[in-house]
Amino acid sequence: MAVQISPSILSADFARLADEAAAVPNADWLHVDVMDNHFVPNLTLGLPVVESLRKATSTPLDCHLMIEDPDRWAPAYAEAGAGSVTIHAEAAKAPIRTLRQLRSLGARAGLALNPGTAIEPYEGLLSEVDMLLLMTVEPGFGGQKFLDLVLPKIRRARHLVDRHGGDIWLQVDGGVTAETIERCADAGADVFVAGSAVYDTPDPAAAIDNLRAKATR
Ligand code: DX5
Ligand code: ZN
Repeated sequence: MAVQISPSILSADFARLADEAAAVPNADWLHVDVMDNHFVPNLTLGLPVVESLRKATSTPLDCHLMIEDPDRWAPAYAEAGAGSVTIHAEAAKAPIRTLRQLRSLGARAGLALNPGTAIEPYEGLLSEVDMLLLMTVEPGFGGQKFLDLVLPKIRRARHLVDRHGGDIWLQVDGGVTAETIERCADAGADVFVAGSAVYDTPDPAAAIDNLRAKATR
Protein backbone atom coordinates (compact mmCIF):
# COMPACT_ATOMS: atom_id res chain seq x y z
CA MET A 1 0.00 0.00 0.00
CA ALA A 2 1.24 3.45 -0.87
CA VAL A 3 2.01 5.78 2.01
CA GLN A 4 -0.82 8.16 2.87
CA ILE A 5 -0.58 11.33 4.95
CA SER A 6 -3.57 12.62 6.89
CA PRO A 7 -2.80 16.03 8.45
CA SER A 8 -4.81 16.69 11.61
CA ILE A 9 -6.67 19.98 11.64
CA LEU A 10 -6.54 19.85 15.45
CA SER A 11 -3.36 21.92 15.08
CA ALA A 12 -4.87 24.23 12.45
CA ASP A 13 -6.56 27.60 13.00
CA PHE A 14 -10.21 26.71 13.67
CA ALA A 15 -11.35 30.15 12.51
CA ARG A 16 -9.83 29.56 9.05
CA LEU A 17 -10.48 25.86 8.38
CA ALA A 18 -11.17 26.27 4.65
CA ASP A 19 -7.83 28.08 4.19
CA GLU A 20 -6.05 25.50 6.34
CA ALA A 21 -7.47 22.70 4.17
CA ALA A 22 -6.33 24.56 1.05
CA ALA A 23 -2.83 24.86 2.51
CA VAL A 24 -2.34 21.08 2.19
CA PRO A 25 -3.30 20.20 -1.42
CA ASN A 26 -0.89 17.24 -1.28
CA ALA A 27 -2.70 15.62 1.67
CA ASP A 28 -4.44 12.29 1.02
CA TRP A 29 -6.99 13.02 3.73
CA LEU A 30 -7.86 15.70 6.25
CA HIS A 31 -7.89 14.17 9.73
CA VAL A 32 -10.75 15.58 11.79
CA ASP A 33 -10.51 14.96 15.54
CA VAL A 34 -13.96 14.94 17.12
CA MET A 35 -13.70 15.12 20.95
CA ASP A 36 -16.61 15.29 23.37
CA ASN A 37 -14.94 16.08 26.71
CA HIS A 38 -16.16 12.72 28.03
CA PHE A 39 -14.24 10.00 26.21
CA VAL A 40 -11.24 12.37 26.28
CA PRO A 41 -10.67 15.46 28.44
CA ASN A 42 -10.93 17.92 25.56
CA LEU A 43 -13.67 19.40 23.40
CA THR A 44 -13.24 20.19 19.71
CA LEU A 45 -15.85 20.13 16.97
CA GLY A 46 -18.77 18.08 15.74
CA LEU A 47 -21.15 17.42 12.88
CA PRO A 48 -21.94 21.02 11.78
CA VAL A 49 -18.25 21.75 11.29
CA VAL A 50 -17.76 18.50 9.37
CA GLU A 51 -20.73 19.33 7.15
CA SER A 52 -19.29 22.78 6.38
CA LEU A 53 -15.78 21.47 5.85
CA ARG A 54 -17.11 18.87 3.43
CA LYS A 55 -18.36 21.71 1.22
CA ALA A 56 -15.19 23.77 1.64
CA THR A 57 -12.67 21.18 0.40
CA SER A 58 -12.44 18.30 -2.04
CA THR A 59 -9.89 16.48 0.14
CA PRO A 60 -11.63 13.48 1.72
CA LEU A 61 -12.35 13.73 5.44
CA ASP A 62 -10.92 11.17 7.86
CA CYS A 63 -13.09 11.59 10.96
CA HIS A 64 -11.62 10.23 14.21
CA LEU A 65 -14.38 10.06 16.81
CA MET A 66 -13.02 10.33 20.34
CA ILE A 67 -16.50 10.32 21.83
CA GLU A 68 -18.72 8.25 24.05
CA ASP A 69 -21.57 6.42 22.38
CA PRO A 70 -20.07 6.31 18.88
CA ASP A 71 -22.78 3.77 17.97
CA ARG A 72 -25.27 6.60 18.14
CA TRP A 73 -23.24 9.33 16.44
CA ALA A 74 -20.88 7.73 13.92
CA PRO A 75 -23.38 7.07 11.09
CA ALA A 76 -24.22 10.78 10.89
CA TYR A 77 -20.58 11.53 10.04
CA ALA A 78 -20.81 9.11 7.12
CA GLU A 79 -24.06 10.74 6.06
CA ALA A 80 -22.31 14.12 6.26
CA GLY A 81 -19.91 12.88 3.60
CA ALA A 82 -16.86 11.75 5.57
CA GLY A 83 -14.80 9.33 3.46
CA SER A 84 -13.63 7.49 6.55
CA VAL A 85 -15.12 7.30 10.04
CA THR A 86 -13.16 5.75 12.91
CA ILE A 87 -14.72 4.73 16.22
CA HIS A 88 -12.87 3.75 19.39
CA ALA A 89 -13.01 0.11 20.48
CA GLU A 90 -13.06 1.28 24.12
CA ALA A 91 -16.23 3.32 23.55
CA ALA A 92 -18.30 1.25 21.13
CA LYS A 93 -20.90 -1.05 22.63
CA ALA A 94 -22.02 -2.49 19.29
CA PRO A 95 -18.93 -2.14 17.08
CA ILE A 96 -20.00 -4.69 14.48
CA ARG A 97 -23.35 -3.04 13.91
CA THR A 98 -21.79 0.42 13.74
CA LEU A 99 -18.92 -0.58 11.44
CA ARG A 100 -21.42 -2.27 9.09
CA GLN A 101 -23.61 0.82 9.11
CA LEU A 102 -20.64 3.00 8.19
CA ARG A 103 -19.82 0.79 5.22
CA SER A 104 -23.41 0.65 4.10
CA LEU A 105 -23.46 4.45 4.09
CA GLY A 106 -20.45 4.45 1.76
CA ALA A 107 -17.71 5.39 4.25
CA ARG A 108 -14.59 3.45 5.11
CA ALA A 109 -15.00 1.94 8.57
CA GLY A 110 -12.18 2.45 11.07
CA LEU A 111 -11.53 0.97 14.51
CA ALA A 112 -9.18 2.84 16.89
CA LEU A 113 -7.27 1.45 19.86
CA ASN A 114 -5.73 3.49 22.67
CA PRO A 115 -2.07 2.82 23.51
CA GLY A 116 -3.02 0.51 26.40
CA THR A 117 -5.58 -1.53 24.46
CA ALA A 118 -4.35 -4.82 23.02
CA ILE A 119 -4.98 -5.67 19.37
CA GLU A 120 -5.50 -9.42 19.80
CA PRO A 121 -9.07 -9.30 21.22
CA TYR A 122 -10.14 -7.48 18.05
CA GLU A 123 -8.73 -9.94 15.52
CA GLY A 124 -12.23 -11.30 14.97
CA LEU A 125 -13.44 -7.87 13.85
CA LEU A 126 -10.91 -7.47 11.03
CA SER A 127 -13.46 -8.53 8.42
CA GLU A 128 -15.56 -5.53 9.48
CA VAL A 129 -12.89 -2.83 9.21
CA ASP A 130 -11.17 -0.93 6.41
CA MET A 131 -8.64 0.68 8.73
CA LEU A 132 -7.12 0.07 12.16
CA LEU A 133 -5.98 3.22 13.97
CA LEU A 134 -3.33 2.63 16.59
CA MET A 135 -2.97 5.62 18.92
CA THR A 136 0.66 6.44 19.60
CA VAL A 137 -0.24 8.95 22.36
CA GLU A 138 -3.09 8.95 24.85
CA PRO A 139 -5.89 10.61 22.87
CA GLY A 140 -7.06 14.12 23.65
CA PHE A 141 -4.38 16.60 22.69
CA GLY A 142 -2.02 17.45 19.85
CA GLY A 143 1.70 17.97 20.33
CA GLN A 144 2.32 15.06 22.72
CA LYS A 145 5.40 12.88 22.72
CA PHE A 146 5.33 9.71 20.61
CA LEU A 147 4.98 6.53 22.68
CA ASP A 148 7.60 4.06 21.45
CA LEU A 149 5.99 1.32 23.52
CA VAL A 150 3.24 1.06 20.87
CA LEU A 151 5.73 -0.04 18.18
CA PRO A 152 5.54 -3.78 19.00
CA LYS A 153 1.74 -3.56 18.79
CA ILE A 154 2.00 -1.94 15.35
CA ARG A 155 4.15 -4.90 14.27
CA ARG A 156 1.66 -7.41 15.67
CA ALA A 157 -1.21 -5.54 14.00
CA ARG A 158 0.65 -5.59 10.65
CA HIS A 159 1.12 -9.33 11.05
CA LEU A 160 -2.57 -9.93 11.86
CA VAL A 161 -3.72 -7.73 8.99
CA ASP A 162 -1.41 -9.48 6.51
CA ARG A 163 -2.56 -12.89 7.72
CA HIS A 164 -6.17 -11.81 7.42
CA GLY A 165 -5.67 -10.67 3.82
CA GLY A 166 -7.82 -8.02 2.20
CA ASP A 167 -6.98 -4.35 2.12
CA ILE A 168 -6.96 -3.04 5.69
CA TRP A 169 -5.02 0.18 6.25
CA LEU A 170 -2.92 0.62 9.40
CA GLN A 171 -3.01 4.18 10.67
CA VAL A 172 -0.87 5.72 13.42
CA ASP A 173 -1.89 8.90 15.24
CA GLY A 174 -0.07 10.94 17.85
CA GLY A 175 3.46 12.31 18.00
CA VAL A 176 4.13 11.39 14.37
CA THR A 177 6.92 13.69 13.16
CA ALA A 178 9.87 13.66 10.75
CA GLU A 179 11.78 12.11 13.63
CA THR A 180 9.33 9.27 14.51
CA ILE A 181 7.60 8.45 11.21
CA GLU A 182 10.28 6.06 9.98
CA ARG A 183 9.87 3.89 13.08
CA CYS A 184 6.14 3.69 12.40
CA ALA A 185 6.65 2.82 8.74
CA ASP A 186 9.24 0.16 9.63
CA ALA A 187 6.74 -1.38 12.05
CA GLY A 188 4.16 -1.62 9.25
CA ALA A 189 1.97 1.50 9.40
CA ASP A 190 0.84 2.92 6.05
CA VAL A 191 -1.43 5.87 6.95
CA PHE A 192 0.15 8.62 9.02
CA VAL A 193 -1.72 11.29 10.95
CA ALA A 194 0.34 14.37 11.81
CA GLY A 195 -1.00 17.50 13.46
CA SER A 196 1.68 19.71 14.95
CA ALA A 197 4.36 18.35 12.59
CA VAL A 198 2.32 19.77 9.67
CA TYR A 199 0.40 22.79 10.91
CA ASP A 200 2.93 24.14 13.41
CA THR A 201 5.40 24.73 10.57
CA PRO A 202 5.72 27.68 8.17
CA ASP A 203 5.01 25.47 5.13
CA PRO A 204 2.46 22.69 5.87
CA ALA A 205 2.58 21.28 2.32
CA ALA A 206 6.38 20.97 2.43
CA ALA A 207 6.08 19.25 5.82
CA ILE A 208 3.76 16.67 4.23
CA ASP A 209 6.19 16.05 1.36
CA ASN A 210 8.98 15.54 3.86
CA LEU A 211 6.93 13.12 5.99
CA ARG A 212 5.86 11.17 2.90
CA ALA A 213 9.45 10.86 1.69
CA LYS A 214 10.60 9.61 5.10
CA ALA A 215 7.80 7.03 5.33
CA THR A 216 8.29 5.71 1.79
CA ARG A 217 10.60 2.70 1.57
C1 DX5 B 1 -4.88 13.25 19.49
C2 DX5 B 1 -5.46 13.30 18.10
C3 DX5 B 1 -4.44 13.47 17.05
C4 DX5 B 1 -3.67 14.77 17.15
C5 DX5 B 1 -2.28 14.47 16.74
O1 DX5 B 1 -5.81 12.76 20.38
O2 DX5 B 1 -6.19 12.13 17.80
O3 DX5 B 1 -4.99 13.33 15.75
O4 DX5 B 1 -4.15 15.80 16.33
O5 DX5 B 1 -1.49 15.59 16.95
P1 DX5 B 1 0.10 15.49 16.89
O6 DX5 B 1 0.44 15.01 15.51
O7 DX5 B 1 0.55 16.88 17.16
O8 DX5 B 1 0.50 14.51 17.96
ZN1 ZN C 1 -6.78 11.77 15.66
